Amino acid sequence: MAILNILRYPDPRLHRVAKPVLLVDQRIRDLADDMLETMYEAEGVGLAASQVDVHERVVVIDTSDDHDQPYVLINPELIASSAEFTEAEEGCLSVPQIYDKVPRHSRVTVRAQGRDGVWFELEADGLLAVCIQHEMDHLMGKVFVEYLSPLKRERIKTKMLKKTRDEQPRR
Ligand code: NI
Repeated sequence: MAILNILRYPDPRLHRVAKPVLLVDQRIRDLADDMLETMYEAEGVGLAASQVDVHERVVVIDTSDDHDQPYVLINPELIASSAEFTEAEEGCLSVPQIYDKVPRHSRVTVRAQGRDGVWFELEADGLLAVCIQHEMDHLMGKVFVEYLSPLKRERIKTKMLKKTRDEQPRR
């Protein structure tokens, strides 16, 4: 297993649309395992392959306190979503230390392939439902800050670019 590099907003690679996974093979299982390890290490609750510069439809999620309920969603598709919406404070490993409210369906049903390639359905509400929608957005090249006002987004962009610059090793 390996810790992968997480792209930071506004890296243009975050806006690439991910392609379907044609075969759930060892390469994809290794990717999912590395993504889980990377997510846990970064103390996140979800990570999309797009964020580690792999543009294929793979998402990992674990919203449990003890990091013992990992979900691997390959080729996820929403098959149902509630008419009711919720607004939760969201964050993203690609936009560190920024949190803001985004409207999401309160409940969703997602169909996906697991790590073993077998299709399954998952009904979710609460944080898990929000997380599924957030990660599926990543696969479409969408980062949560794009739901915010242009002014807020510009501020975040400036902040992230400065942060990245400040972190550059000095010579
Ligand atoms: Ni994110």
